[in-house]
Amino acid sequence: MAVIGIMDSGAGGLSVLRELRRVLPRARYLYYSDNAWCPYGDKSAEFIRERCTAITKELSGRGAEVMVVACNTATAAAIAHLRAQFALPFVGMEPAVKPAALGTKSGVIGVLATAGTLKASKYLITKGLYGSGVRIAEHVGSGFVELVENDILEGPEAEKVCEASLLPLLEAGADIIVLGCTHYPFLLGTLQKVARQRGYDGVRFIDPAPAVARRTVQILSEKGLSVEDAQGGTELLSSGPDQTLRKLYSLIDKEDRAREDA
Ligand code: DGL
Repeated sequence: MAVIGIMDSGAGGLSVLRELRRVLPRARYLYYSDNAWCPYGDKSAEFIRERCTAITKELSGRGAEVMVVACNTATAAAIAHLRAQFALPFVGMEPAVKPAALGTKSGVIGVLATAGTLKASKYLITKGLYGSGVRIAEHVGSGFVELVENDILEGPEAEKVCEASLLPLLEAGADIIVLGCTHYPFLLGTLQKVARQRGYDGVRFIDPAPAVARRTVQILSEKGLSVEDAQGGTELLSSGPDQTLRKLYSLIDKEDRAREDA
């Protein structure tokens, strides 16, 4: 039975785990938060590659047969390197420029991501491929990862931090905002509130996690890996303290149960 390994610099990848569990509720998941080294956004690509290699070794040693790099920054820095080093299939993340470019009415899309993602050649290639007919406004979500890692998802402090990075994109005319870091979906409610308060009611936010979950299903079936008969369950691992990880995990777990009961 296939075990799915998921890694992120912290708890952000839980936004991907949430979508994976929607499409593969009976799979077994091993989630690794590298929060001793979080954030990745300002680290060198070389450092991130080393961490991703160590985490892949750890999770494959525990039985992972497919790895989801649930981190845009780590995907940009390390996925090619990981694919060259390990025989496992890897699924990565990247900012959802394509659906945003197809969906925009204003002709301007906004991308919120880490500094590491925005300067990576992977993202520049994506922009070249899918963003040519639109204007792309970009901003680092400054302080967003720290908010999530400290479990501050709403309230005045979260609103202030979110507004500082979101507003320039709204003022540039973006009607669709791409959440280009897996931590950011945990701030979606606050981002929507800030947009509404500033009079940008119609703005839409895109999280690529559902597409990544579908891609994982496809890869499992291409590789002939089945999760159908697995008991399911999620094991959480981290390189640092795990309070926030466990708290945000119970949040997505509660959402899952509420959905099952509905
Ligand atoms: N969650 C991450 C991402 O998707 C990384 C955030 C960080 O550690 O800077 O980019």
